[in-house]
Amino acid sequence: MTDAHNATKPEVWHGVRTERLAKGEEDPYLFVRSPGDRQVIFRQILHPATGCASYVFGCAGKKKLAVVDAHHEHLADYLAVAESVGSPIVAILETHVQADHRSGALELARETGAVVHLHQRADVAFPFTPIGDGDEIPLGNDYIRVIHTPGHTPESSCFLVGDRTRGEDPWLVLTGDTLLVGDAGRPDLEENASREAAEAAARQLHQSLERLLSLPDHLEVYPGHFSGSACGRSLSAKPSSTIGFERRFNAALQPRSADDFVDFMLADLPPAPEDHIAIRRANRLGGVAPSPTLAT
Ligand SMILES: [Fe+2]
Repeated sequence: MTDAHNATKPEVWHGVRTERLAKGEEDPYLFVRSPGDRQVIFRQILHPATGCASYVFGCAGKKKLAVVDAHHEHLADYLAVAESVGSPIVAILETHVQADHRSGALELARETGAVVHLHQRADVAFPFTPIGDGDEIPLGNDYIRVIHTPGHTPESSCFLVGDRTRGEDPWLVLTGDTLLVGDAGRPDLEENASREAAEAAARQLHQSLERLLSLPDHLEVYPGHFSGSACGRSLSAKPSSTIGFERRFNAALQPRSADDFVDFMLADLPPAPEDHIAIRRANRLGGVAPSPTLAT
């Protein structure tokens, strides 16, 4: 690759790290830099203890970053990425109200002044900016486009992400707990969910997955969980995929009637995440710990 090529082509880095940068430590993933205002960054932050994935990404050239599904134990990581590229976090998005870990969205908003976005159906007790299907959030040269995908929860949404310096089409989709690598997000974790409610949620999930399957095969998939999470069955330890690979090999995406899909999704479920009702209640209050067991 020539220097001239490097000078005009925007760079992307996909980095994975689970530990925090020490103060003053140089981020090894930031060795690739391109001049000008076309730099897009994308970072997946993993939390192996609960199989959670969160994301910080955006346009470092025009200095607008977003964080999706902020995990309260990784706030320092998001801030370290933002500091490393000299760009503020301006948008915080939740794919849904989480039931298996404490959200860091509000804490991050207080730290950064960024706006918290959730789907308009989210049942939470804190102020947020409502988003709906088809809405677009600009991030400099990049954008986030909302797809409402109810099923795992009523407000569950996926986020298409594109970089207009590369092309108008979306490059990747953040699928939250709707589509996981190897499965779909379980539809039975709502508080006091009856069998009937779980079946209705599974039918919604069936339609939501149909929408995702209308996306092109080349689109990269970045889920909210990977193996180690109780939010799905047989999740891959590989925390990313493509629509095309999942279309072919994800058991939940194989052609089925809605009735057969409901039976499939409600069979062989692992135990619900420990404290999931208390965690979701805490997250509905903005991640405030209601009991000492959730304080960390
Ligand atoms: Fe979830």
